[in-house]
Order: sequence, then structure tokens, then C-alpha cells
Amino acid sequence: MSPLLLAISFFFHLVATVIWIGGLVIITLLVWPEMRRTLESSPALLALLTRLRRRFVPWSNFSLVVLVVTGLAQMTANPNYDGFLQIDNDWSRAMLLKHLTIAGMVVCGVVLQYGVTPALERASLLLERGKGDPAEWERLRRREIRLTQINLLLGIAVLGFTAWATAI
Ligand code: HEM
Repeated sequence: MSPLLLAISFFFHLVATVIWIGGLVIITLLVWPEMRRTLESSPALLALLTRLRRRFVPWSNFSLVVLVVTGLAQMTANPNYDGFLQIDNDWSRAMLLKHLTIAGMVVCGVVLQYGVTPALERASLLLERGKGDPAEWERLRRREIRLTQINLLLGIAVLGFTAWATAI
């Protein structure tokens, strides 16, 4: 692969990292806590959480696609790469741990997007119409926060394994 193409691949790989992992950091450490403090028990909290979720999810899904495509290109271009599932040096061990951790992030994402989020948005809608069960909403919301925090920790682990691979 030409150095120019590799540089372009790394550029998009890094931008996708900033969007996904950076987005998880900002949402869990800044936006959610401040939203809760300022909009506690206001109907605006439900609407804002739903809008934020609907804006961030497509970006994180798109980032994952970009990371997989550019990552595969970077992997095959790396001199340490000896072929599919050839785990015969520290670099490929670091890459394997990175990919297993990313698989964990994907599982968290699928549980969130197809399990928790639809139920949470239904509960939010019922609450906004004065019909819902606040305890049920709280339970689902705690699950969303927990899964997102796990996803953030896994994302940081991915960066750790990448730093190890890049140092080799
Ligand atoms: C959450 C997903 C991912 C994140 C956050 C991530 C992050 C990163 C970062 C920050 C770098 C360093 C780039 C640099 O040194 O300039 C990198 C390098 C790399 N990534 Fe990823 N990446 C992800 C997914 C993937 C995937 C799915 C693959 C492979 C299919 C992959 C393969 C690589 C390779 C081969 C390198 C170069 C490592 C080296 O220089 O030795 N990455 N990644």
C-alpha cells in the first residue's frame, strides 16, 4: 500500500476514533451528569436524552464501519502481520486483544440499540404522556448508563492495546 494511501487510512481511523471514543467520553463524563443536575424531573430531560441518543448512535455506527475498513487496510500493510489468525508475535497478540475488546464494544452496542433503547424510548413516551412508570424508566436508564460506561472502558482498553501494538 502506498504511504499516501496508508496516511489517508490512518487519518480516517483516527477521526473515527475521536468521534466514537471521544463521543462516549463527553456524553458519559460531561453531558449526562450536567443534564441530570439541571433538568432533574423536567419533561425536557426525557426529550433531550432521546434526541442526543438519536444523534449519536448513527455516528458511532458509521465510525465502527470506518474503523473496520481502515483497520483491515492498516493491518495487511503492517510488516508484523503474518496472515489471518497468525498470532505469532507480540504485535498480533496486541491486535487480537484489541479485536476481542472491540467485539465486546459491538455486543454492548447491540444490547443498547436493540434491547435497552427501544424500551427506554417507549417508557419516556409514556412518561411524557403522564401514563408511564417512573421506576421502570429509572431501571432502564440505569442499564443504559451502565452499558455505556462499560463501552467507554472497553474503548479505553482498545486504545491501550493499540498503543502497545504501535510501540512494537
Ligand atoms: C474501537 C475501534 C478502534 C479504535 C478506537 C482504534 C484506534 C486506533 C488508533 C488510535 C490507532 C493508532 C493510529 C496511529 O498510530 O496513528 C490505531 C491503529 C491501528 N488500528 Fe485501530 N482502532 C479501532 C479498530 C480497529 C480495527 C477493527 C482494526 C482492524 C481490523 C484496527 C487495526 C489497526 C491497525 C493495524 C493499526 C496500526 C497499528 C500499528 O501501527 O502497529 N483498528 N487504531
